[in-house]
Amino acid sequence: MSKDILNIAVIGAGYWGKNLVRNFATANGCTLKYVCDLNEKLLAVEKKKFPFIETTTCIDEALNDSDVDAVIIATDVPRHFEVAQKALKAGKHTFVEKPMTSKASDAKVLVELAKEKGLKLMVGHLLEYHPAVNYLKEMIDRGQLGKPYYVYTQRVNLGIVRQDENAWWSLAPHDVSIICYLLGSEPISVSAHGQCYLQKGIEDVVFATIKFEDGKMANVHCSWLDPHKIRKVTVVGSDKMMTFDDMETAEKIRMYDKGAAIKHDITTSYADIISLRFGDIVIPKVPSGEPLALECAHFIDCVLNGTPIRSDGIDGLRVVRVLEAGQESLKNNGEPFNPKDF
Ligand SMILES: NC(=O)c1ccc[n+]([C@@H]2O[C@H](COP(=O)([O-])OP(=O)(O)OC[C@H]3O[C@@H](n4cnc5c(N)ncnc54)[C@H](O)[C@@H]3O)[C@@H](O)[C@H]2O)c1
Repeated sequence: MSKDILNIAVIGAGYWGKNLVRNFATANGCTLKYVCDLNEKLLAVEKKKFPFIETTTCIDEALNDSDVDAVIIATDVPRHFEVAQKALKAGKHTFVEKPMTSKASDAKVLVELAKEKGLKLMVGHLLEYHPAVNYLKEMIDRGQLGKPYYVYTQRVNLGIVRQDENAWWSLAPHDVSIICYLLGSEPISVSAHGQCYLQKGIEDVVFATIKFEDGKMANVHCSWLDPHKIRKVTVVGSDKMMTFDDMETAEKIRMYDKGAAIKHDITTSYADIISLRFGDIVIPKVPSGEPLALECAHFIDCVLNGTPIRSDGIDGLRVVRVLEAGQESLKNNGEPFNPKDF
């Protein structure tokens, strides 16, 4: 892009959108021109914080303004597709919050539209911008864990209980995006079990298993009905194991020099055939940085400088496919579904 500064409109200034407003209002390389929401009270709050913005309840006002280069969408999920499609058709680079859409077929339309129009399409997979997750990724890619075997994630707490989506759609997008990012391979089956205790038809707790084409496996446990607040990722490799605990303030990553190996020496006694290794536990220093600020800066950089997007439309589509396959499995008592069929 031949400009130095992007003009941005944020659509949706609710619980999460207000954080995007704050970040884009203060980020380098952009000017926040519009904040749009159907709720005038929310607009008044943002206008008070950032008097230089224009506020509107009509997205067309922002989309028809040729000064606006990019649109950030943080509406409720069922509106994502309609608003993102409008933004892309209006020629705007588009950032959509996670999950990209409620249906993979809609996500595919957005990916195609962005490609056809030569526009950037990014999805708010926040944790792909977490410095600790990036550290984990670097360790895996550098072979520090040996061959990655499997990953499991826990995202549980008491609340926030949603009424318009289940715990799988509300919480798992983060885990599914981290898992696919870390393992870097294509998911081929999702099998999920869950139960609805508080509201009819809305699962409060889900246990899902995802299998990958190269034999890797992942498990996601997500719940808003749990006594613990846990935000944890565990990666088990052939040589080492690592954890990322987002509830820790400083020591978020631990690397365990632990493992098990089979000896192929025929002289070894049966009892000694499997050797277990219990080595050091290292707590590395991980760079700091607010993931949301890093995510917003990445979007600005990608639009201005043509840097490839880490969480692009294809990544968004992959996550929605896994979510849809998991939803189908929930309906069918854990039967496995292939995300590619969605
Ligand atoms: N990245 C994260 O960690 C994270 C955390 C929470 C939520 N989110 C995502 O952010 C998005 C918003 O979630 P939320 O919890 O803020 O929801 P919310 O209901 O609090 O806010 C949505 C806002 O969008 C507005 N809106 C809806 N349709 C609109 C339209 N056509 N034009 C203008 N405004 C419109 C609503 O008035 C509302 O204020 C969701 O996609 C959610 O999954 C992301």
